[in-house]
Amino acid sequence: MKVLGIETSCDETGVAVYDTSRPGADGLLAHAVYSQVALHAEYGGVVPELASRDHVRKLLPLVRQTLAEAGLATTDLDGVAYTAGPGLVGALLVGAGVARALAWGLDLPAVAVHHMEGHLLAPLLEDPDLEPPFVALLVSGGHTQLVAVEALGAYRLLGETLDDAAGEAFDKTAKLMGLPYPGGPQLAKLAEQGTPGVYRFARPMTDRPGLDFSFSGLKTQVLLAWQGSDQSAQTRADIARGFEDAVVETLAIKCERALDAAGCDTLVVAGGVGANKRLRARLQAMAESRGGQVRFPRPALCTDNGAMIAFAGALRLEAGQRADAAVRVTPRWDMASLPAM
Ligand code: KG4
Ligand code: ZN
Repeated sequence: MKVLGIETSCDETGVAVYDTSRPGADGLLAHAVYSQVALHAEYGGVVPELASRDHVRKLLPLVRQTLAEAGLATTDLDGVAYTAGPGLVGALLVGAGVARALAWGLDLPAVAVHHMEGHLLAPLLEDPDLEPPFVALLVSGGHTQLVAVEALGAYRLLGETLDDAAGEAFDKTAKLMGLPYPGGPQLAKLAEQGTPGVYRFARPMTDRPGLDFSFSGLKTQVLLAWQGSDQSAQTRADIARGFEDAVVETLAIKCERALDAAGCDTLVVAGGVGANKRLRARLQAMAESRGGQVRFPRPALCTDNGAMIAFAGALRLEAGQRADAAVRVTPRWDMASLPAM
């Protein structure tokens, strides 16, 4: 089954075609992402109306480009999958509108995909042997969640952030030290030049039991440290390193607890912050030390993309699931409410 995937939940337009008759990553016939970063940079964050308008401009050309790269015509497709939430309502509606129109025009089944399920299943795209049960750490700009995956489609929330998401904390911390939007990857790059231990920030909520997170206090600690410093380039790098170490260590501690709580030894990491090199190394070490394993998608499939939507949608379409023929989106959507596959 060849499935067209469309992602427009935030500031990336992503399109891909996934073919379920080929194993794992070979099934990814083509994928393309257009990032709106430059458009939003001057505002220091995503402007929802501009995001919607840019999806309108970019989505159809990207669909044509992706199909051409895959060597396919629209008539070769067997289904359409689109992100229906969570995300920005206007941005979601662009993807849903185009997907539903294509499905209707081509007389194809269509399925509405949960963005976080897309992230969560992305590691399986490259690693078809990976099977539940496992624990997933979802770390993006909007979410920080630990989820027990008992079966595909059966998700139990173990813990989540009470305030800022991990990616949001990276972005806000970068901003307060004068780095341009989106600061997460830039802060991580800067941290490579920082000396570990010069600045040591708290590991929030690790001194008590539980699997929830809180990152907003960390941001305030960084602000105070930055304001009280000489604000030199080296200091900025040292603070970036101290901040990154605090986030990485906090995530690692909670992941280990979550594995214990769920009684399993496989951790899957997904979402934009999953591209962070130090987080990948630290979780790898944690998993090895307990004889377990950790799986990450390649960095390009950690951040928002159409491939994960095509893949998750293909699994649901193969399970016989279809969305009815209406352009409907769900900006707030609990993953635990999804039907099993
Ligand atoms: O999953 P994603 O692309 O979009 C959302 O669904 O939110 O995640 C984007 C987030 C941003 O906050 C970005 O700063 C963060 O992921 N991010 C990183 C890195 N790459 C992306 N944070 C830390 N280190 C990175 N290398
Ligand atoms: Zn995302």
